[in-house]
Parts: sequence; structure tokens; C-alpha cells
Amino acid sequence: MRKKIVAGNWKMNNNFQEGIDLTNELIENFKPTDLNKQLVVCPPFIHLNAMAELFTENEIRLGGQNCHTSEKGAYTGEVSAEMLKSVGVRYCLVGHSERRAYFFEDDQELFQKIKQLLAKDIQPIFCCGEMLEDRKEGGHFDVIEDQLELLWKLSKTDFQKVIIAYEPVWAIGTGQTATAEQAQEIHKFIRSRIAKKMDEAIADNASILYGGSCKPTNAAELFSKPDVDGGLIGGAALEANDFLGIYNAL
Ligand code: 13P
Repeated sequence: MRKKIVAGNWKMNNNFQEGIDLTNELIENFKPTDLNKQLVVCPPFIHLNAMAELFTENEIRLGGQNCHTSEKGAYTGEVSAEMLKSVGVRYCLVGHSERRAYFFEDDQELFQKIKQLLAKDIQPIFCCGEMLEDRKEGGHFDVIEDQLELLWKLSKTDFQKVIIAYEPVWAIGTGQTATAEQAQEIHKFIRSRIAKKMDEAIADNASILYGGSCKPTNAAELFSKPDVDGGLIGGAALEANDFLGIYNAL
């Protein structure tokens, strides 16, 4: 069955105490509505261990924002999938547009990260999305098709563990959300590519999240679309009420 997910990406926000305070607020107010609707929080690395301890009695799951392409070794400043696993991480973002833009992550690197995560049984949340220029030129479908290409190298078993997040770059942190129709159109396209490259059943079961200025006020409309299975939330994940409001719209 297709899983519904709302995941919060804190990005580089919240010092340790702020992270603990927000976590406690989430725990106090989170009421899971359905076991098939998952709430995930992806904080910076420094929060993970303490949050894992606070989440032990809770249905909220932990996600990482990044991991390294190698298993271990002399990679100063980096964190491996194995390390994420050791603190209870179940999900990890891969290929966020900020990492593609500021850290020049390419397809080969993203593929290695996905392999590292899958080897540790962590579900990658693979991000894709076009820039404003691409959309203006009508090239958005081609961009998404290209970005998805690396996923087709995975076995069917591995692919089924991957969650896809469509995040149009022009909608991230801008307040300019894609309309529910624009999101649906791309999500449907992504699902059709999965059907073509994997098979219909896998496509039908795949969770495809929308990200980019998603808020409690627009979440219900986005999530009402048949191919939108939840959201990847930035700014609104930094306020417990807003984040849980989005979850409750699932
Ligand atoms: P905003 O919700 O702040 O637009 O960020 C979306 C995002 O990049 C989540 O990964």
C-alpha cells in the first residue's frame, strides 16, 4: 500500500536546545491519525542522537539530511550511512536542490549515496525539481526525466525503498507554492516513468512527496491530488503547530 508521508527538513536551523524544545513540542502534540501516515523529521546531525532518545515511545521517525558516498574512512567532516543507522535514522534526503547547487553533487555521487543508505536499510528520499528557467522554457518534464535516470539502475527491490520528493526549485523558500495542478501533473509524470522503467504495481505503490512552500493553508489542496502522497517541508517544519497542521492535512 502506498505510504503517506510528511517529512520536515530543518536544513541548517535550530541549535541544540532549540531542537530539543521543538522535538518536545512535536511529541506533546503529535497524534498519529493512521499507521499508514508517517511523520518524519530530518534535523542537522548534531540533534539526531538526542532526538532518537526522545522518540523511543513515539511514532515520529528520524531522517538524515545527507550522508557520504563511502562506507567509512578519511573523509573529514562527513557522516556515513552506518553512523546514521547507529542513531536510529530510518530515512535520509538525497539530492536536495541545495546540495546539488551549493555542493555540486552529481548523479554519480547521488547514486553512491543511495547505495550506501540502502545497504544500511535506510530509505532514501530522493529529491528532484526544475529551476524557474526550465519551467519558463517548458523544459520541466525533461529535467525531471533526466534527474530520475539514475534510479533506473537500481534493482526493483531496492527501488521500492526509495521515496521521491518533487521540489520545484522556484517554490523552495519563496512562498510561491506550485499549484496543486502543477504538482499533480509532475507527480503523475514521475509515476508514469516508474511504471515504464519498473512496473505498474511498483509505480502504484511509490510514495511521491511535494516540497516547496508547503504550509497548513495549502497542504490539504496539494494532498487531495491523486498522485501527491505527502510533503517535504522546510520553513513550516520549524514551527510545531504548522508542521503538525500539515501532517493533519494528509
Ligand atoms: P520550504 O518549505 O521552506 O519551501 O522548503 C522546502 C524544502 O526545500 C524542503 O526540503
